Amino acid sequence: MTLLGKFITIEGGEGVGKSTNIACVESFLQAQAISYVKTREPGGTPLAEEIRSLLLAPRDEKVCEKTELLLMFAARAQHLQQVILPALQRGEWVICDRFTDATYAYQGGGRKLSLDTIATLETVVQGGLQPDLTLLLDVDVGTGLARLGNREQIDRFEREQQDFFEAVRAMYHQRAKQFPERFRIVDAGQPLEVVQKNIIHYLQQFIASSAA
Ligand code: TMP
Repeated sequence: MTLLGKFITIEGGEGVGKSTNIACVESFLQAQAISYVKTREPGGTPLAEEIRSLLLAPRDEKVCEKTELLLMFAARAQHLQQVILPALQRGEWVICDRFTDATYAYQGGGRKLSLDTIATLETVVQGGLQPDLTLLLDVDVGTGLARLGNREQIDRFEREQQDFFEAVRAMYHQRAKQFPERFRIVDAGQPLEVVQKNIIHYLQQFIASSAA
């Protein structure tokens, strides 16, 4: 199977400004006349969005860690087959708001599930597919949580405590260290124009290295 498009993922903890910065990635690609599909995880297809709703809804019943993990990968399997792989095969780029690095960070780091178990499911669902570029938006946990503010609707993950998000952030850093060729860490605590300048710099660098 030949994948002609590029697969870019945007990662980070809560309140790092993913939406605003994904809009910046989109404007850049549009200016380069690169056709792309923007999507997200968990979600990205009608069925996967239903699984997202199940995962994010606060509920009285405790959601077992392994249930959460399997639902993440169930949504991912659907999303990959229905959206991501077909787009890459058509030669379009895929801009995905979170992917499997989020599973390592949240279910591995946050929930303390075995990284080997996650890796096994990753292979089952993805084979060898990995993002070509991962932009990790990074900000200290206190700042990120403060940015979430006092929203009325907070989802099941946003209800977690600071130590959970510290573990998520630490695992993102561990992943970035493990895969330096595809990860670029963006300091999202800087003023927005600086953050976006850095993102564009990394995208330009990525395009130049892909063309070489
Ligand atoms: P969002 O806030 O980026 O829309 O993502 C929804 C939540 O899902 C977020 O709190 C992170 C969480 N999540 C996981 O726990 N594991 C995963 O694999 C993914 C993709 C998201």
